[in-house]
Amino acid sequence: MKQTGTVLVTGGCGFIGSNFIRFLFERTGFSGNVVNLDKLTYAGRPENVADIQSEYCDRYHFLCGDIADRAFVENIFHKFEIRIVVHFAAESHVDRSISGSAPFMETNILGTWTLLEAARMAWGDHADPETFRFHHVSTDEVFGQLMGDDPGFTETTPYDPRSPYSASKASSDHLVRAWYHTYGLPVTISNCSNNYGPYQFPEKLIPVVILNALNKKPIPIYGDGKNIRDWLYVEDHCEAICRILESGIPGETYNIGGNCELANIDLVHAICGIMDELSPVAVNSAFGSYRELISFVTDRPGHDRRYAMDTGKIQRELNWEAVTGIEDGLTRTVEWYMKNQNWVNAVRS
Ligand SMILES: NC(=O)c1ccc[n+]([C@@H]2O[C@H](COP(=O)([O-])OP(=O)(O)OC[C@H]3O[C@@H](n4cnc5c(N)ncnc54)[C@H](O)[C@@H]3O)[C@@H](O)[C@H]2O)c1
Repeated sequence: MKQTGTVLVTGGCGFIGSNFIRFLFERTGFSGNVVNLDKLTYAGRPENVADIQSEYCDRYHFLCGDIADRAFVENIFHKFEIRIVVHFAAESHVDRSISGSAPFMETNILGTWTLLEAARMAWGDHADPETFRFHHVSTDEVFGQLMGDDPGFTETTPYDPRSPYSASKASSDHLVRAWYHTYGLPVTISNCSNNYGPYQFPEKLIPVVILNALNKKPIPIYGDGKNIRDWLYVEDHCEAICRILESGIPGETYNIGGNCELANIDLVHAICGIMDELSPVAVNSAFGSYRELISFVTDRPGHDRRYAMDTGKIQRELNWEAVTGIEDGLTRTVEWYMKNQNWVNAVRS
């Protein structure tokens, strides 16, 4: 990304946001500043950006705060002359949205509305898209579920969210589009499939599998394990967002995915196979392979059966496609969790 100026990243202490800030500084020609606004919920970890904080201290500013705090957010736009927003901040875990949906509504809906209004106040109506951009990061879950061999979701698939999480993200997508049509706010939206990679909080499937296996604990799989997700290595997602910031058309939505559909049970077997290679179980152990730790548990209510993304638009229009193969991405992820036990202990404490 060639843009200079100041980028406001929301949720930059979370999994994807922290990877994005690192990617921006280290893997693109970006020469501007980053303001990271994060509330530091249980999922927001200062450890995730500790290296950025020390390496880029003159170009990186961390602010602890809530995206739904209007006065605080408006002041950030004013003080740092924000020109680009990359909006990751969200409550992101479906299971938590089922047991308590309030923070999902507050952050994902009201927080997004607050950011949109703050951007509009700072940039004015019909802001110049060459200068300003509001990029909203969303999910494939807004489209509902696919069955059997249904074709993948496209950018025009009707919304059909089925969990409090996906309903709150769908609401936020609608708000972002409305601010484009009504006020001419230069927005782009991306809807992405499941990400994996370093720094993912150990409540999501892949880190749970790796860490339970390392600790010889049962590896839980919902239902029959045949729910299908499309998996994308997090750095590929970061690259796609940079491509959209650089060349995406204001008002447009882009689907992002890894073209890598896997049933949960097959994904878990793949991870166990990698772990059997990288960290073989001791010969005198009670089990011979991490696969033997797999344990089926009661299914999540309303568990979507299958997601798949048609990424033709971003491939054709922005020349982006995922480049990290699943075996390579999973191996890098397993190695990262094995080498970063201090991080695991810190986020779990
Ligand atoms: N993880 C995935 O597989 C995936 C896939 C598609 C889309 N997304 C979307 O990408 C974004 C980032 O996901 P993630 O997996 O990195 O999530 P995450 O839960 O790891 O991180 C979310 C971050 O937002 C911060 N945050 C939460 N509420 C806040 C508030 N009110 N104000 C300021 N900061 C707040 C948290 O502290 C945390 O740092 C989300 O919008 C999510 O919907 C995620």
